[in-house]
Amino acid sequence: MNFKNLLVEKKDTIAIVTVNRPDKLNALNGETLEELRDLFESLQDDNSVNVIIITGAGEKAFVAGADISELNKLDETTAKDFVEKGQSVFDLIENLGKPVIAAVNGFALGGGCELALACHIRIASERAKFGQPEVNLGIIPGYGGTQRLSRLINTGRAIEIILSGDMISAEEALKYGLINRISRHEELLGDAVELAKKICSKGQIAVRSALKAIVATNYLHLNDGLKLESDLFAECCATEDFKEGTSAFLEKRKPNFKNK
Ligand code: COA
Repeated sequence: MNFKNLLVEKKDTIAIVTVNRPDKLNALNGETLEELRDLFESLQDDNSVNVIIITGAGEKAFVAGADISELNKLDETTAKDFVEKGQSVFDLIENLGKPVIAAVNGFALGGGCELALACHIRIASERAKFGQPEVNLGIIPGYGGTQRLSRLINTGRAIEIILSGDMISAEEALKYGLINRISRHEELLGDAVELAKKICSKGQIAVRSALKAIVATNYLHLNDGLKLESDLFAECCATEDFKEGTSAFLEKRKPNFKNK
C-alpha cells in the first residue's frame, strides 16, 4: 500500500507507522485520516503484524491536531460528518484487537492527543506536550477527547485541560496518568520497539484476549466484563500456547509460542 502522508516500516512482527506531514506538524487532514483508516484496516487483517507503533515525523510534533484549514470551513451539517469520520478511525484503532503503542515525540494536541488516547499504551519523549486546545478555536474536542481523556485520568484534571486549552508537559502527563512513561527523546522509538518486542514474545492469543477484555471495560458493566473475562480465559485454556506456556514453566525452559 502506498500512502501520501504515512510511512510504514515493518520490523519482524512490529509495524511502525509515522504520520508524515512535518511541515504542518503532522496535522490530520481528511486525506491523512482516510489513509489511517485504510492502513489500520489492513493491519487488523495482517497476520504478520502483532504490535503497531505510531509516531510523528520531524523533530517537533507527534500530531498537532486536526487540520485547522479544513476545520475553518465547517458548518453545523458538515461538522457532524467531520467528527464522525475521525471518531470512527480512532474507534478502529482502539478496537483493533492488537496492541497499538503511541510513541509521542512532540506536540500531541487536539486530534493528536485524541489519537494517542485511542492507542493502548502511550510513551512520550521528554519533549512531548499534550493538550486539547479546541476551546481556543471556539469548539470542543470532537475525536473522542471529552470521553477518553475523562475516562483515562482524573475527571477534574481532564476538565481543566479541556476548558483551559493549556498544554501540559510530559512530566505533568505522567503525573496525571495520561502516559505510561517518559523516554529520552533520542531513545523514544527504540524504547517503544523494545516494549513491542516484549509483547510480541508472548502468546498472541493471550495478548489479544487480555486486550479485548480490558478495552471492553469502556462499555461493559462489571458483571458482563467478568463474564467476558471468564469466556476468554477458557478459550485461552483450549490453545496449544496454554499447554506450551505452562509446560515450559514446569520444565524450566522458555516457552515457544505458536499463536495457536
Ligand atoms: N492544522 C493545520 N496546520 C497546522 C496545525 C494544525 N492543527 N498545527 C500547525 N500547523 C501548521 C502551521 O500553520 C504552520 O504552517 P505554515 O508554516 O504553512 O504557516 C506549521 O504547521 C508550523 O506551525 P507553527 O505554528 O509555525 O509552529 P510553532 O512551533 O510556532 O507552534 C504549535 C507550534 C503546535 C504551538 C502551533 O502550531 C499550534 O498552536 N498549532 C495548532 C494546535 C491546535 O490548536 N490543534 C488543535 C486543532 S483542533
